[in-house]
Amino acid sequence: MARIILGITGGIAAYKACEVIRLLVSLGHDVLPVPTRGAERFVQAETFAALARNPVPALDAAGLYPHLQRADLVVVALLTAHTMARIAHGLADDVLTETVLAHDGPLLVAPAMNTRMWEHPATRANLALLHERGVEIVGPASGELAEGEVGVGRMAEPGEIVGRIDVLLGQSRTLEGLDVVVTAGGTREPIDSIRFIGNRSSGRMGLALADEAHKRGARVTLLAANVSASFPPGVEVVSTPTAADLEREALRRAGADVILMAAAVGDYRAAAPVDGKRAKDGDAWQVELTPTTDVVRALGERRTATQILVAFGAEHGAAGLERKRGMLTEKNVDLVVYNDVGRDDIGFDSVDNEVTLVTADGEAHVPLAPKPAIAAAVLDEVERLLEQRR
Ligand SMILES: Cc1cc2nc3c(=O)[nH]c(=O)nc-3n(C[C@H](O)[C@H](O)[C@H](O)COP(=O)(O)O)c2cc1C
Repeated sequence: MARIILGITGGIAAYKACEVIRLLVSLGHDVLPVPTRGAERFVQAETFAALARNPVPALDAAGLYPHLQRADLVVVALLTAHTMARIAHGLADDVLTETVLAHDGPLLVAPAMNTRMWEHPATRANLALLHERGVEIVGPASGELAEGEVGVGRMAEPGEIVGRIDVLLGQSRTLEGLDVVVTAGGTREPIDSIRFIGNRSSGRMGLALADEAHKRGARVTLLAANVSASFPPGVEVVSTPTAADLEREALRRAGADVILMAAAVGDYRAAAPVDGKRAKDGDAWQVELTPTTDVVRALGERRTATQILVAFGAEHGAAGLERKRGMLTEKNVDLVVYNDVGRDDIGFDSVDNEVTLVTADGEAHVPLAPKPAIAAAVLDEVERLLEQRR
């Protein structure tokens, strides 16, 4: 049982917070609801208090201010654009924002708002601040919004929010005992001793996947190709700067239960890199490129009946998506995570991503979200596929 402070802010989805409270209480958690004044325009505090079987805090009996109550986890569901901005900037002008600022443990938020509010640069910047500080973000989903518009902005469903809470509380070790290999970053293929051919991959997507798999109880090995961001705790890291390094280390681990190929592996390397540094003599420099091994294909050829192999593909537009569909059979992979790099706000080197999950069962679109939220969606899909194999 955990003590959970549940913040609720002012949007239509406040009624869904009632279901979140009900589910948490049924799982035996001690839930303290903290609605904002805005939330109480939609649902009365008494409703939250009755469902939680806990009073909505004023000063408590021991004389402690409610915002100084300790909790294992603070959740804000729903989170409005307004309170997201307040939290991002450290404001503390009501009990909920005071509570968030005084809390030194994990924070999970479930944003819900109109699509235009969600896509506004101010909201994107605030979300990036929360993300940088390690705040866990669940949703929003796309679909019909309360005002009748269709788009991204619906609060994640209560069951999904409670699932994320379980993961954060370490109660959902759904990948316990499994070996998971994740590749991250971009390989660099030397053309002389100091120059290379590389790509713009930052490694953030792979890091988020490794972190999420570790939180779900897996033994995680991260094959890191020139990743500059910090590594998640509890994950074994093997440096694989070139495509050849990554190929060798990945094939050594070809028997892992789950392999997530998030790294951008160079398709070509210099046939004959120059020894030492090539002088700057003003002459043209012809570099012959030769293809590297297709590591995903090599792993696909070795894939076992129970293993899940996931490939990531960055391409342009609908034609790219069609090619990714083909990879399922051509390269014998279970799941292709496709992102359209035709857009400049997602994918390579960005905080957010938006992907399509392609499997033999069909396709699922994961709307624009920080990479940790995308990682959670990818691993949910991996778990679904593992379940099918059992
Ligand atoms: C009918 C109605 C629905 C609203 N729904 C949302 C919403 O889903 N998301 C959001 O960010 N703001 C929404 N708002 C605006 C917020 O209620 C408003 O910004 C308020 O100041 C938020 O305060 P709080 O975050 O302290 O609760 C809505 C307002 C109204 C009148």
